[in-house]
Amino acid sequence: MSAAPDDASAPTSNGQAPARDDATSSRDRTPAVRVVGLRKEFGSTVALDDVTLDVRTGELTVIIGLSGSGKSTLLRHLNGLHRPTAGSVEVLGRDVVALKGKELRELRRDVGFVFQQFNIVGRLTAMENVLSGALGRLRGPRFGVRAYPKQLRREALELLDRVGIGDRAFQRTDTLSGGQQQRCAIARTIMQRPRIVLADEPVASLDPEISGQVMEVLMRICTEEGLTVLCSLHQVDLALGWADRLVGLRDGQLVLDKPAAGLSTEEVMAVYQRLDPTGEKAAEYREPMPAGAVR
Ligand SMILES: Nc1ncnc2c1ncn2[C@@H]1O[C@H](COP(=O)(O)OP(=O)(O)O)[C@@H](O)[C@H]1O
Ligand SMILES: [Mg+2]
Repeated sequence: MSAAPDDASAPTSNGQAPARDDATSSRDRTPAVRVVGLRKEFGSTVALDDVTLDVRTGELTVIIGLSGSGKSTLLRHLNGLHRPTAGSVEVLGRDVVALKGKELRELRRDVGFVFQQFNIVGRLTAMENVLSGALGRLRGPRFGVRAYPKQLRREALELLDRVGIGDRAFQRTDTLSGGQQQRCAIARTIMQRPRIVLADEPVASLDPEISGQVMEVLMRICTEEGLTVLCSLHQVDLALGWADRLVGLRDGQLVLDKPAAGLSTEEVMAVYQRLDPTGEKAAEYREPMPAGAVR
């Protein structure tokens, strides 16, 4: 894993995320996300089963769970990519299920999404990809860097610096490494000026060392911008280093929802216990946990 960065937003030596300024949450008491009784069926598969969850403004929530437990399905409901079978989804005070057309586009401008597979345009430069994040703030399409106002170009360059690839600004992104491509995607998301960032296993395609570095970049920049973050992660150690709160899904059900500080290994590992059809514990998640990752 990467070394903790030497700045104020890094996890402290006890491995906890730094205390956050509570001003935002006390100013705005409406939760950033409110999910009540969410159920999603895909044919006969129940992907989410009666999930209820509130996320406060400025909170950093990490969603853990085995592959197939419903993490992506939950995140995709929050920007209207999926419609619930039952239940309600409110984001930034708006009923996501009721939104259509322009309103849905407006919501998606406020809700940035970072994907596992980066979703950047390989034939464009890093700069062009980042600038495209500002399209929702402009009228009409733009082709090429020079078509964007100078102020936005400056902003994009600054963001590329902040994610650590300022020197790659004018390089085609299909010539960048995976970690650099995800850094570029993070910069593009922030360029959008979202209020919430959803990240769906953002480092699952990267090797472990790079994963730690890219997570650090994502979490640091979101913390600096005061954004509400929901991030699904496979790596428990990474989750505990950054999360204010840990949410666990198992077979579509919410089985854990607690502050990250003080969680026991047992509570975390229980999320990964799979139930067999007889209801007995059949298999446990076996990815090794680094010593001391859980307090
Ligand atoms: N578009 C879809 N069509 C059919 N089944 C789906 C679809 N998306 C997800 N599922 C199913 O829903 C369950 C939860 O999937 P997912 O949310 O992708 O889990 P995770 O992200 O935790 O790996 C799985 O059984 C998966 O196969
Ligand atoms: Mg997924």
